[in-house]
Amino acid sequence: MTGETVSDDDLMAMFEAAHWAPSAANNQPWRFIYARRDDPEWETLFNLLNEKNQRWCKNAGALVVIVSKTTFDKNDKPSRTHSFDTGAAWGMFALEGSIRGLVVHGMQGFSYERATSDLGVPDDYCVEAMAAVGILDEPSKLPEDLAGREKPSGRKNLAHIIARGTFSDALK
Ligand SMILES: Cc1cc2nc3c(=O)[nH]c(=O)nc-3n(C[C@H](O)[C@H](O)[C@H](O)COP(=O)(O)O)c2cc1C
Repeated sequence: MTGETVSDDDLMAMFEAAHWAPSAANNQPWRFIYARRDDPEWETLFNLLNEKNQRWCKNAGALVVIVSKTTFDKNDKPSRTHSFDTGAAWGMFALEGSIRGLVVHGMQGFSYERATSDLGVPDDYCVEAMAAVGILDEPSKLPEDLAGREKPSGRKNLAHIIARGTFSDALK
């Protein structure tokens, strides 16, 4: 990434896309805490990341912490699908960014404990993941080990993830 800030237009359009995701009982459990690289809160979010993620995130334009509410608004009962719903919203967020030509990258390599305490996340909310958003730069500018990772990654064969009627051995 180039180290430029992601524009408010792009970032807000991504949050707009995310918030149209479907969710159980339309509870919309997703919450997004963000900082653009010029914001005073950037340091707080950046410091949550492990060293490996900090190495390439230093040129990100924005960082986002994705949080989900674990209970239903209507009755405070636990929601079985809060993570699933919030994952759907993250998918919309990433797709909108991708359509806009941005780099959007999910991350679990950060301190969940410090994210919860440093960002003041209340008890009935759960930190799910972080994301880096940025403007694409030339991979050749990266250190050698990181540049090597800049190629399309594969996916499992469909035969290993789909089964008709039962959890067949092919899915294991
Ligand atoms: C929830 C989530 C957490 C991830 N955590 C990290 C991470 O901490 N560091 C990292 O470099 N990549 C991370 N990734 C990126 C994945 O490794 C990557 O999406 C996967 O290998 C598929 O590659 P692709 O997205 O380029 O197709 C994460 C992705 C997701 C969705």
